[in-house]
Amino acid sequence: MTGPSANTPTSITIRRPDDWHLHFRDGETMQAVVRHTARQFARAIVMPNLTPPVTTTALAGAYRDRIMAAVPEGIAFTPLMTAYLTDTSDADDLAQGHRDGVLTAAKLYPAGATTNSDSGVTDIAHIMPVLERMAEIGMPLCVHGEVTESHIDIFDREAEFIERILEPLVARLPDLKVIFEHITTAQAVDFVDRAGANIAATITPQHLHINRNDMLVGGMRPHNYCLPVAKREEHRLVLRKAATSGSAKYFLGTDSAPHHRHDKESACGCAGIFNAPFALESYLAVFEEEGAIEHFESFASNNGPRFYGLPMNEDRVTLERAPVEVPAEIDGGVAEIVPFHAGQTLSWRFCGSA
Ligand code: DOR
Ligand code: ZN
Repeated sequence: MTGPSANTPTSITIRRPDDWHLHFRDGETMQAVVRHTARQFARAIVMPNLTPPVTTTALAGAYRDRIMAAVPEGIAFTPLMTAYLTDTSDADDLAQGHRDGVLTAAKLYPAGATTNSDSGVTDIAHIMPVLERMAEIGMPLCVHGEVTESHIDIFDREAEFIERILEPLVARLPDLKVIFEHITTAQAVDFVDRAGANIAATITPQHLHINRNDMLVGGMRPHNYCLPVAKREEHRLVLRKAATSGSAKYFLGTDSAPHHRHDKESACGCAGIFNAPFALESYLAVFEEEGAIEHFESFASNNGPRFYGLPMNEDRVTLERAPVEVPAEIDGGVAEIVPFHAGQTLSWRFCGSA
């Protein structure tokens, strides 16, 4: 850190971060968005919820090649692939993909929980043999933690998932590495804090910046709609404390999820917030507001690789204090995408490699 004093730095240099939860899509949209993530991050855990989903090692390998072909020349970026679990996932195929370095993790989408999750798992009992195998070989499980029954209120779905699915799963498979992704509630923070070292969580920038009022007051704001949906202010405040606490159990996962403007501004708008272009600027604002800039590097760059058992990045990136205007829209290939913080001015600027 350099600047007038440790409390008011004018620039910050940290180990290059990784994004531990990301959506790239495919085709033209992917071609347009990969550059934004590759500019800031060395690696990203790539979500497999394409149509059709990335359910096997072979599909993940082919998807990885398409992503690599979209990385701009001169940028070093490594996509870390995940397999989408279904009721009929093949444990041998996943284990082999993990052993061969094609699959970093597998992803549990409860069927119907979110975008392109219809082929997800209908009952966790169906994948218990796969999860047992993953625990045995040390393959991490990424979890979208929401129950899906229609009678459960959407604001309660994460808390219900913890009680009914996650607690029993962790008790049954105490060695399974679980990443509780994009957590949104005080109950999730409490669960993660109490759990063993094999349980961690990612936190998105949007859940640190917005609460449910930002989605619903003064008109519906589809660009602030994502899943799990933003909760009450009291939850946001707990998430901010967790992310900035210095605890090794929390790390950066943007859940950047590009949807074109017309798919968001629609009678049935898609869930997802596209935050990749200004992700680090957005997170750093939170750490500064919380007076915890000294914990930014562990959250962004150290805790993730440590949990996944992957090497740390060696290079460094710098952000400097300077106003950055977030554009109203960004090229999304087939159509434009409205980014998180559109039209706002952020106070840190990403400068790239130190
Ligand atoms: O808001 C979300 N968008 N949450 C998810 O879980 C999926 C994602 C997407 O794929 O668009
Ligand atoms: Zn996601």
